[in-house]
Amino acid sequence: MDRNSDLIHQAEQTVAEYKDIVNQDKYRLHFHLMPPVGLLNDPNGFIHWEGRYHLFYQWNPFKTSHGAKFWGHYSSSNLVDWKEEKIALAPSEWFEKNGCYSGSAVEDNGKLKLLYTGNVKDEQGNRETYQCLAESTNGTDFKKKGVVLRLPEGYTAHFRDPKVWKYEGKWYMVIGAQSAQLEGRAVLFSSNDLEEWTIIGDVAGTNLNGLGNFGYMWECPDLFQLEENDILLVSPQGLKPEGMLYQNVYNTGYFVGKLDYQTGALEHGEFFELDRGFEFYAPQTTVDDQGRRLMFGWMGVPEQEEDKHPTIAQHWIHAMTIPRELLFRDGRILQQPVKELQDLRINESTLTDVKVDPQHSFSKLEGSVYELQMHVEEFEAQQLEISIKDSVQLRYNKKEQVFTLERVSLTKGAPEVRQCQLTNLTKIQVFVDTSAIEIFINDGQEVFTARMFPEDVSNKSIVFKVGDGHVKGSIQKWDFE
Ligand code: FRU
Repeated sequence: MDRNSDLIHQAEQTVAEYKDIVNQDKYRLHFHLMPPVGLLNDPNGFIHWEGRYHLFYQWNPFKTSHGAKFWGHYSSSNLVDWKEEKIALAPSEWFEKNGCYSGSAVEDNGKLKLLYTGNVKDEQGNRETYQCLAESTNGTDFKKKGVVLRLPEGYTAHFRDPKVWKYEGKWYMVIGAQSAQLEGRAVLFSSNDLEEWTIIGDVAGTNLNGLGNFGYMWECPDLFQLEENDILLVSPQGLKPEGMLYQNVYNTGYFVGKLDYQTGALEHGEFFELDRGFEFYAPQTTVDDQGRRLMFGWMGVPEQEEDKHPTIAQHWIHAMTIPRELLFRDGRILQQPVKELQDLRINESTLTDVKVDPQHSFSKLEGSVYELQMHVEEFEAQQLEISIKDSVQLRYNKKEQVFTLERVSLTKGAPEVRQCQLTNLTKIQVFVDTSAIEIFINDGQEVFTARMFPEDVSNKSIVFKVGDGHVKGSIQKWDFE
């Protein structure tokens, strides 16, 4: 057996060995994509190709820690029902022996082509990086074409995660990098055939374009247009917490600007953090045939309490977010759950004219795996609190204009919070899975993503409380299949 078939065979054996344990885990997710076994991280190669959505993912089938990554593969016709496909890439060749790292997919002459980073480390841990190409005619079997780009001068070997797109008949690729001066960078390249690449220049980075110190390495860049704007989505490493911002070990956000395709430079404004929760990183977008800009994020953060997740005992860790559509309003990205998720709704409860006051906390609804929405009509209280599964509290403090997500910490120590400034609350939409929660505020103006591990994952009351005054509105809840 050749090395590639051998690795794939070993991965399949491992899946077969542990899949029953994973499937019986109470924390197994119902509507979020998760690994069959092992560790899942970044979404890769997200594309709508020949009528199906394809989502690949960074995958270590053998362990619940990081290692020589494979590309796992799911596909779907509707973003809701996903099929587990054959393993797309295994780290079998010299140029990727320590991992087929993150990358993206494009359609070219009827073929599905993947550009990804080949990660190589020697015995001393010294890194090499190769940008590689693989292609498929049927969308499931990939043929490796090898290295298409080597490390250019001026950057360290922290140079990875190519995102490719076509603009005015030419291919462009943005890569996450670290400059020789150890500054985070996004770098632009161009090509006519996806095989020969020419460097154009730095798009943005630490100490460029008035940015100042903004991290020592930028991972997983994505560059795309939303309305008239060029958006650079990127995950910088090395940002220091700043008030309510950048609270996770590594963070993700975006710049809005105008890209100069001649020089590669993005004239941009400030950095906006994309998701305000505990677990969110390395998102990737694509456009589908309806022209929607869709995004998946990794519901995890590298090196952030990864050894504390209780699912490790059941041989799996991490998940994807739900797919979100990106819209643009008032200079900012709005993130909205894709409408297809409505197909999962069953058992609707609709309650109008609900009034929560200090004498009447509202707890008529309960659920285990569900979507919850509240449209706020009157907010005449200092603070509204919504408790979910005894392990997560959502609070909006109107006086301080602060939204808070509080959870029981993964180490089961003191409660911990993530927060953002919010001038008013008109709508809150919450997606609750067995061990995950995603909160969309005011139609995606702010989003919080987090894992949660309640002892009891069964039906639990959803409790709305105020300490003074009242909050009035309508509440809807749907169980999810
Ligand atoms: C981000 C990341 C990428 C890399 C991949 C390896 O989470 O570190 O930069 O390509 O994960 O799995």
